[in-house]
Amino acid sequence: MTPYAKRQKKLIAVLRRQGMDAFFVSKPENVRYLSGFGGDDAYLLLTGSKKFFITDSRYYLQAKKDVKGFVIIIAKKPLSELLAEISAKLKVKKTAFEAGQLPYAAYKRVAGRLSERGIEFLPLEGGIDGLRQVKDASEIALIRDSIAILENAVLYFESILKPGLSENDLASKTEYFIRAASGEWASFEIIVASGPNSAFPHARPGDRIIRPNDMVLLDLGVSYEGYKSDLTRVFFLGKINKKQKKIYDIVKEAQRRSIKAIKPGAKISEIDGIARGFINAKGFGGGFGHALGHGIGLEVHEGPSISTRNHAEIKPGMVFTVEPAIYLPNWGGIRIEDMILVTKKGCEVLTDDIDK
Ligand code: GLY
Ligand code: MN
Ligand code: MN
Repeated sequence: MTPYAKRQKKLIAVLRRQGMDAFFVSKPENVRYLSGFGGDDAYLLLTGSKKFFITDSRYYLQAKKDVKGFVIIIAKKPLSELLAEISAKLKVKKTAFEAGQLPYAAYKRVAGRLSERGIEFLPLEGGIDGLRQVKDASEIALIRDSIAILENAVLYFESILKPGLSENDLASKTEYFIRAASGEWASFEIIVASGPNSAFPHARPGDRIIRPNDMVLLDLGVSYEGYKSDLTRVFFLGKINKKQKKIYDIVKEAQRRSIKAIKPGAKISEIDGIARGFINAKGFGGGFGHALGHGIGLEVHEGPSISTRNHAEIKPGMVFTVEPAIYLPNWGGIRIEDMILVTKKGCEVLTDDIDK
C-alpha cells in the first residue's frame, strides 16, 4: 500500500467514527498529503469506496502523472454543482469538510447545492490535522532531505556573513543559493536580524548594514517536495561580550533541558514549561513571549503547538521545533531553534549537525 493509500484509509476510519460518508478536501497541503499532487486548484472527494480528484485543464497532465488511485475529473462546471452531482450518484448523505479551511462564501455555495439534494455538509473536527501530526517514514525522509539543503544554506550564509553587507543582501543571496541548489524556495521569508533588530521575533530583513561586533540572527527554512524545515542560529561577528554569552548560555541550557525531556507520553505543556521555567528562574521570563515550538511538515507551522496550553501527549513520529528565546528591546534577541523527531524512547535532534 502506498503512503497515500494508508493515509486515506486512516482518514476514512476517522470519517466513519464521526458518522460521515464523504470528505471534501480543499486545503492544498491536505490534497498533497492524501494524493501526492503538489499543484494548486485541486480538490478531493473521498468516500469509503471511491476517490475523486478534481482540477482544471491546466493541471491535467501533472495530475495524470502524480495522482494514483483517483478518478481524475477536469471540472467544466462550478465545483459546487460537480460535488452535488457526484455525491448524489454515490448516495452520500453526509459530506465533511475541513473545519479550519473553507472560506464562508465557498461553504455557503457548496452547502446550498448539497442541501438541494438532501445532503448535509458538516465540519470534520481535527481529523486530518491530527493524522498529520504523526509523520510516516516517507515524510520523515523528505524532512531530512529538506534539512540537508538547509544545512548547506546555513554554511553558505556563514561564508558570506561580513560587516559591510546589509541584512537584505544576506537574505537575498541566501534565497538565491537555495533556489539554485534545490530548485525550491525558502519555506518562509528569511529572517536576518542584526544588532538590536534581533529583538523582534519575526524581524524583516532591512537595509541595516552589518557592523564589526554585531550579533546576527538567522531564521531559515527550506521547502523540499512540499516538506519544510525551520532553524534559528545566532552568529557573533566580533568578540562575544559578557551579556551576550550569559543570555546565549541561558537559552541554550533551556533548550537542552526541554529536549532532554521529550519522549512519548510526556505532556507537551510540560516540555514548554521546562524551558520557560528555566528562563523565568534566571530572571528573563519577560523576554520570552511566544510558544516553545510548533509542529512542522507540509506547513512550517502545523500541529502540535508546543505551548503551555497544549496538554496533549507527545507521540512517536511527531516532528516539531524547540525554539526558546530571550528578546530584550534595544539590545537584541537570542533564539535557538532546532527540529526534533520523537522516537520510540526519546527524540532525535534532526538539525544537530548544524553548529550552534
Ligand atoms: N521561522 C518562524 C518560526 O520559527 O516559527
Ligand atoms: Mn519555528
Ligand atoms: Mn524559525
